[in-house]
Amino acid sequence: MTDISDTQLYGQVDLSTTGLLPVGWVDSVMQTISRYAVRVELDGSYALRSEEEPVSKTKMQVVTGDVIASGMGWISSLYRGEILQLAEKFAAYPLACSEDQASAININVLERSGSIYERHTDQSALTAVLFASSSLGRGGELVLEHPNRGEIRIEPHEGSLVIFWGGEVAHSVSPLSEDWTRVSIPMNFYRAHETQEDRAKLNSYLYTPAQ
Ligand SMILES: [Fe+2]
Repeated sequence: MTDISDTQLYGQVDLSTTGLLPVGWVDSVMQTISRYAVRVELDGSYALRSEEEPVSKTKMQVVTGDVIASGMGWISSLYRGEILQLAEKFAAYPLACSEDQASAININVLERSGSIYERHTDQSALTAVLFASSSLGRGGELVLEHPNRGEIRIEPHEGSLVIFWGGEVAHSVSPLSEDWTRVSIPMNFYRAHETQEDRAKLNSYLYTPAQ
């Protein structure tokens, strides 16, 4: 297991070597996507960009947290247990899970060549992303932007968990260079004692089905 240090921009742990992920977990995620995912189109209004940049639209499929809570108890258990502990170790700060089930955990799917996830910061303070598929050089990297240290690109790898301060570090997903199914499971954490507001606005933005 990679050490998670509070001096790093991000922490990364290979959960597939820890025994925390149940046998057949990727199949279970893929089945949930095929049954429950909704197609959404983000209009760029939450994206961080300069005035001159065109508004980019993110088209993706999303499984919301309420589906995960009712049908994939093992993810919810990890979120409230071992992943919360790993996140607190990285943050060196007490954290709280989201009070809002729908946005606490999501499954995000990008599939088509050229698909991106626009540059943004998260509503929550800290974000943990579990990848359920591997890029293998086909783009779709998680790009973290550190104000002083520049861009860091993290290639998705099945079973890999990446933890970073998503509320402060601008991040995006680089374009897929060919068709493949990029599946990420972001989980939101707040600083303990922080109020968890403005979620309704973000939720309606994230989960309004495309026309
Ligand atoms: Fe994010």
